[in-house]
Amino acid sequence: MCKGKTLYLEYQQLIEQALEKALPIKSAQWMQNNIPGPLNEAMRYSLLAGGKRLRPIMLIAAYSLAKEQLEECLPFAVALEMIHTYSLVHDDLPAMDDDELRRGIPTNHMIFGEGIAILTGDALLNEAYEICAHSNHPQTLPFLRILSNCAGARGMIAGQTADLIHEGEAPSMDLVRYLQYNKTVRLFYAAIVGGLTLASAKVSLVEAGKLYATAYGTAFQIIDDLSDIFSDAETMGKNTQKDKNRQKPTWPAAFGVEQSFVDAKTYCDEAINIAEQFGERGILLAYLAQQLLVSIPKQGGVYYV
Ligand code: IPE
Ligand code: IPE
Ligand code: MG
Ligand code: MG
Ligand code: MG
Repeated sequence: MCKGKTLYLEYQQLIEQALEKALPIKSAQWMQNNIPGPLNEAMRYSLLAGGKRLRPIMLIAAYSLAKEQLEECLPFAVALEMIHTYSLVHDDLPAMDDDELRRGIPTNHMIFGEGIAILTGDALLNEAYEICAHSNHPQTLPFLRILSNCAGARGMIAGQTADLIHEGEAPSMDLVRYLQYNKTVRLFYAAIVGGLTLASAKVSLVEAGKLYATAYGTAFQIIDDLSDIFSDAETMGKNTQKDKNRQKPTWPAAFGVEQSFVDAKTYCDEAINIAEQFGERGILLAYLAQQLLVSIPKQGGVYYV
């Protein structure tokens, strides 16, 4: 097994254990003492459903570019995954994308109802900040500034707003660039820049990290949009063929399918190049971008990679 994959699996396991610990079934920890049983169950249902854990893994990978003590950044990685999971629970609601399958299982509202799904998202979001607020890591406040900006009304939620209100239109390229940058790139940016900030990395490393996050995140959403057209529910763990029906402002809708394949590859290559400049320590970030490249779906039997 290559070193990148070994690290990926190792960090994924660290995240799974930390998530389970952060939100146990019955908790002896003060933070979970007062979570009502049904809410705790609904939060665990979506959080522990086994996503790819890309953002928290990326946070650890970025941290490890500059520092060794990985366990120090774990609570922040957990917080980021909670925020990402909340964004998915809300994204799937009938009032938003109205999806029935997520992470290979029925969406939160399909099991617990819309009201609890809304509260699950609210609770995961607050839990994330509560975890950060209880850390004594010296870089907690700078990290929180990055996270709250990237996830909030000027970040992910801004992108989701644009995504929602421009449904049913023929989207301009500028609009799609803006909304995909915000709804998707910003959480990868929080992972990389947040991880580097926790590690007190030097400015030049942070600047390179920003470029990596932007290239990776842009490719990620283009490939998500292409997968909605060319992949299937079994591969994706969520239903496909949805964006066209809802006339979503996607990359293919604005740039065309052919150009989207070209752009997906270009941004993946860019992310790989940047990660390779990090040298030995950047091996996991390079691996993640290489995996993204090979996840570009097929079109008509032709590999576009
Ligand atoms: C899905 O993200 C949301 C998008 C930004 C397209 P992921 O594909 O990382 O979802 P999980 O965490 O693996 O379920
Ligand atoms: C969602 O984008 C991005 C979020 C911030 C949740 P999509 O709506 O395309 O994500 P999927 O396809 O449902 O995972
Ligand atoms: Mg959406
Ligand atoms: Mg969606
Ligand atoms: Mg999508």
